[in-house]
Amino acid sequence: MSDTITIALTKGRILKETLPLLSRAGIEPLEDVSKSRKLVFPTTADGVRLVIIRGTDVPTYVRHGAADVGVVGKDILLEHGAEGLYEPLDLGIARCRLMTAGPVGWVQNGARIRVATKFVNIAREYFARKGVHADVIKLYGAMELAPIMNLADLIVDIVDTGNTLRANGMEPLDEIASVSSRLIVNKAAMRSRYKGIQSLIDSLGAATETQ
Ligand code: PRP
Repeated sequence: MSDTITIALTKGRILKETLPLLSRAGIEPLEDVSKSRKLVFPTTADGVRLVIIRGTDVPTYVRHGAADVGVVGKDILLEHGAEGLYEPLDLGIARCRLMTAGPVGWVQNGARIRVATKFVNIAREYFARKGVHADVIKLYGAMELAPIMNLADLIVDIVDTGNTLRANGMEPLDEIASVSSRLIVNKAAMRSRYKGIQSLIDSLGAATETQ
């Protein structure tokens, strides 16, 4: 087996906030990842490369060992499950909250509510736990539009500044989970390349503490 360690990242906030941590751990991509259309990037660290994929694909790559390590939001781990993965570090970056939200002043009238979200498993589990009958509608984006168009009563979505909700006449209601990015590791790689991966975990842990 090759000794190369492959780290899976996602463009956007996770990439922006992970690169300084990697840099403190001595790992820097050889070119500007945010400006390139490439998906694989060698780094200044011998035997460490980065791959850039969608957030929801990070656990899949790591679970199958196609990447050894990944950085992914807790929201994605909660929604898609974390079986077959170690989650050794909370990187404390890309923080936000997973919340229910509704039109300002909304009150439930009726036995059932309709909830639009891309986090269908989290939403079903949350409303079941609360004893609320919820019909969960899967969307892939722009959840805030669903109540405006009367597709749903409420949404379950990520809230950071709250600006997107406000701009669409909505307000946050209940917090379901607080979210930050986690380091995940393939279980077999953790055993077969313990030294390299443990040293990466240690350096990223130290970089996280001093940020
Ligand atoms: C997320 C989320 C909201 C927005 C919340 O979308 O779905 O739309 O951010 O942020 P705010 O509270 O600061 O306004 P994102 O931009 O991550 O894109 P996505 O829809 O692809 O998840």
